[in-house]
Amino acid sequence: MASIAIDGPAGAGKSTIARRIARELSYIYVDTGAMYRAMALYLLKNQIPVQDREQMEEACQNADISIVYENGEQQVILNGENVTDQLRTEEVGNMASVSSPNEKIREKLVQLQRKLAKTADVVMDGRDIGTKVLPDADLKIYLTASARVRALRRYGELSEKGIPCDLDEIEEDIKKRDERDMNRAVSPLRQAEDAVLVDTSEMKIEDVVSEILRIYSTRSEVQ
Ligand code: DC
Repeated sequence: MASIAIDGPAGAGKSTIARRIARELSYIYVDTGAMYRAMALYLLKNQIPVQDREQMEEACQNADISIVYENGEQQVILNGENVTDQLRTEEVGNMASVSSPNEKIREKLVQLQRKLAKTADVVMDGRDIGTKVLPDADLKIYLTASARVRALRRYGELSEKGIPCDLDEIEEDIKKRDERDMNRAVSPLRQAEDAVLVDTSEMKIEDVVSEILRIYSTRSEVQ
């Protein structure tokens, strides 16, 4: 099975770009952040304190997370309920960032991610795909952009949905999340040694997509 791993900080454009690349290649797009968000939603709904090891372990056993595809779009099922539309809030995102260092959560979700990559050609995005989940991916991309540019993008997305927000607050949140994601002990966000660095701060989405596809086709020719 073929695989492309795309890692990088929040707001670098990973999901938009990964989704387009998957469509171009007829691969499936696996959004691993959505899985950590589903786990975070479970913790929020059940008011489980992240510091409580025992309750967290129990939560990992009780939260059944699976992935299905509807019209090519990933849907996340949490204990039988399709929760996809509940995952993109700042509250859930922050909880995902706080809870994702938990080893039990990572073990559970990495297993699910590897299983998906065994059954289909995938473009998978996240924080540890190139370093941990798919160390033998055919192509690894580390996608990044400045914190200000990433905050501006998030601000645009939220404003478009009519959600009131503050740009400076969003930038602060993004920096805090980077700090947590990059400095945690377990699977921190970092560029894999064999990953190609793509800084999207000054690039249009189409240009990023075609650049990655170009790199991928060059690799495929070599192999
Ligand atoms: O990409 P995202 O914003 O949906 O991810 C939400 C959080 O989940 C992020 O702050 C860190 C965590 N995450 C992770 O630890 N490992 C991944 N492969 C994907 C996301």
